[in-house]
Amino acid sequence: MLDRQRIQDYRERGYLVLEGFKSAAEIAAVRDRALAIVEAFDPGNQRSIFTTREQARVTDAYFLASAERVSCFFEEEAFAADGSLRQAKALSINKIGHALHDLDPVFDRFSRGPQLDALARELGLAEPLLWQSMYIFKQPCIGGEVGWHQDATFFHTDPVSVTTFWFALEDATLDNGCLWVEPGGHRSPLRQLFVREGDSVRMQRLDETPWPGADRAIPLPVPAGTLVCFHGLLPHYSAPNRSPVSRHAYSLHATDGRAAYAASNWLQRDDSLPLRGFR
Ligand code: FE2
Repeated sequence: MLDRQRIQDYRERGYLVLEGFKSAAEIAAVRDRALAIVEAFDPGNQRSIFTTREQARVTDAYFLASAERVSCFFEEEAFAADGSLRQAKALSINKIGHALHDLDPVFDRFSRGPQLDALARELGLAEPLLWQSMYIFKQPCIGGEVGWHQDATFFHTDPVSVTTFWFALEDATLDNGCLWVEPGGHRSPLRQLFVREGDSVRMQRLDETPWPGADRAIPLPVPAGTLVCFHGLLPHYSAPNRSPVSRHAYSLHATDGRAAYAASNWLQRDDSLPLRGFR
């Protein structure tokens, strides 16, 4: 799948950009499916939002249950002061998560296969386990910022093994909130840990190393179909989307089954929905 130089680049920079990984037809299949899920979603009194600024405060039972469900989360800025939606429902959802890859046949197909399995192994995951999937809308005008973070904060293993597979389903640009990364930043310490205790969660500070400034961060504008893989310690960020164009993406988080998965991670699985890899 990867030549030696690309594997070397990944080790040095902590990320890898693979253009043309998914075809237009594969993208259309998951986009159509995501829109159908949102169409069928009846929020009722459900007003769960997703925010990276204060996730510990706003996390609720709906969020925790989404570990084994297909759940829709609103953009933080979706609602007007009176509680009504500012844009149509289809333009108000921040993301769908977190078990699409195991519960939905269309997403299962998109998330697995020999190519992804081989890639994961080349990136060091000898026994890849797929914990989480997210369909991220980054809606026009109200698409929320995702503040600087490291994904190992949410998927702690010993040793660190979580690896992110981020698929651009639309062109990601500077205007609509593409990813930003710190090349080589995967050698920096884990700053925070998202810890679950029973039905509550909290963010624990581990290290005071600052997030990268403008001098060390680079944007990753990529065309639709691109797969960006990155290491669990790589600091990354995406800006709010104030443009009239959405920036759909789909992400998968995998750990290595040889590493110990922390009992304090918010996302746990039992035998009712067993963990699987990319096969
Ligand atoms: Fe992330």
